[in-house]
Amino acid sequence: MKIAIGCDHGGFDHKNAIKDHLTERGFDVTDFGIYENKSVDYPDIALKVGTAVANSTCDLGILICGTGIGMSLAANKIKGIRAAACSEHFSAKYTRLHNNSNILCLGGRVIGVGTALELVDLFVDTPFEGGRHQRRIDKISNIENN
Ligand code: RB5
Repeated sequence: MKIAIGCDHGGFDHKNAIKDHLTERGFDVTDFGIYENKSVDYPDIALKVGTAVANSTCDLGILICGTGIGMSLAANKIKGIRAAACSEHFSAKYTRLHNNSNILCLGGRVIGVGTALELVDLFVDTPFEGGRHQRRIDKISNIENN
């Protein structure tokens, strides 16, 4: 599985830890930056990761900013992206099961690295349930397309 990852200055240490963790687990991780801990605008990184997922260069994405919220707002503007800002385990799992979310957004100032790694594992290991949930996602797509 190919995973795109990116962060702003609010999530730099988390991004590197998640990248190392996923690589150790055998995932093919593409790092869209930032590569040094300096202040950047999170929509620029959300656009890069979101585009890689939307055009199927990568299967799933991980975005980290201070809260996870700015990244999710920006990524969800890209057609085909379902980005979920999560800070606990239940949501990280169910946003895959029910929403077929394709980007997980985390807050580097909200959760510690240990929790972030657990949420990432739940996200990448949980399949979409399909069925009635596909109908609901189709309705999201209809909103997007009209
Ligand atoms: C950057 O200071 C901060 O605003 C950003 O990382 C993020 O939390 C925005 O949602």
